[in-house]
Amino acid sequence: MTPPSVSVEGAAQVLRPPRDGLTHLRGEELEAQTLEPGAVAFRDGTIHALEADPLAELTVDATGCAVIPGFVDCHTHLPFAGWRAGEYAQKLRGVPYEEISRDGGGIAASARALRESSDDEVLAQAARLASEMLATGTTTFECKSGYGLSREAEMRALVLARELEIQVPQTTVSTALLAHAVPSGYTADEWMGVVQEMMPEVIGAGSVTALDIFVESIAFSNEHLSLMGELATSAGLALRCHVEQFTSHRSVPVALAAGARSVDHLSMIDPADIPALAAAPCAAVLLPAAEFLGAEHRAPGRALLDAGAIVVLATDLNPGTAPVASMPVVIGLAGRLYGFSVRESLGAATLNAAWTLGSEHDRGSIEVGKRADLLVLDGPVEMLPYRLARNPVAIAFIAGEPVYVRDEEAEGRLSWS
Ligand code: NIG
Ligand code: FE
Repeated sequence: MTPPSVSVEGAAQVLRPPRDGLTHLRGEELEAQTLEPGAVAFRDGTIHALEADPLAELTVDATGCAVIPGFVDCHTHLPFAGWRAGEYAQKLRGVPYEEISRDGGGIAASARALRESSDDEVLAQAARLASEMLATGTTTFECKSGYGLSREAEMRALVLARELEIQVPQTTVSTALLAHAVPSGYTADEWMGVVQEMMPEVIGAGSVTALDIFVESIAFSNEHLSLMGELATSAGLALRCHVEQFTSHRSVPVALAAGARSVDHLSMIDPADIPALAAAPCAAVLLPAAEFLGAEHRAPGRALLDAGAIVVLATDLNPGTAPVASMPVVIGLAGRLYGFSVRESLGAATLNAAWTLGSEHDRGSIEVGKRADLLVLDGPVEMLPYRLARNPVAIAFIAGEPVYVRDEEAEGRLSWS
């Protein structure tokens, strides 16, 4: 079905990059994004003008609204099975994540739940979450394996991620998180040997764009990170990594040497590693929901941004550290935890996140020629971090289709010719 031609008109604010053609935004470029009143017109799913189109089949009255790119959630752990609310209750009593993990909870608990769930059950839960994500403006998201913890179960998770994309309106990008926890019966070194053997199968699946690893005392080491980097390079895949989350391992220089596309978490990054990261073509993916709910240390978001790093915001949606699907919540937290302005947070949650996934060529910003993935918010962007946890998304378009219209008020803004 061809998407309709659409004219979104009369917006109070349209978020635009400081110049067209930027692949990501660093430092002051984030604050230099503009929020002028305006219009956006699209046809065949692609933005074709930054002005009203009187011939459009669908007109959207965006009076009083902000129009922004759809959120790109570049770090989630979908698909997973069930939740771990009991662990959260333990954490509230002060039990550390590492202790819960060593007692058989954590990632191992979610691996058991995945094993015990049918494909249909896993997909139904993931599709429900994707629909929550759509309602809060996420138009592209990443999926990761990582709760398989066996060769077969990791491949199953990657297949389920691909099936999820067929069921939901969003585009998904798959990451093979093959070194998440050390499976029982293996040493970390032995498991990395299995990961190496799996590579032809992972590449053969055809849907994976990146490899990922969790570096931590309870998981894998910097040496394993280097090896994962070599595997990614020889497979032509990006390297992503969970680093410096609970304790500092000085993993950032190792990740940079391995050519990582992103270093994620960074709650415990050594300040001495900030300049090198800021100068590198590597995203600093910040996950404030995990930090807030886990009472983790706070990543030096402001220092990273000011130093010129490609800062990114994502949910980390997973049943352990961050059962949070909403990018508006993440943006609200980033304001308070890192001191990000709303422009900075929005750039981090759109174009910079798209760059992390290698999708910046066709999404992440409102520019002529990009996919019409955009959101109509029911007020100015300043309301978004301020009214924490309230959802401001009235209408969401993916590739030019109005895939989410919140309520009658939003419906009333649409007129079909
Ligand atoms: O990004 N740190 C490792 N992985 C996840 C948590 C996984 C879990 O607890 O289930 C994270 O926080
Ligand atoms: Fe994660």
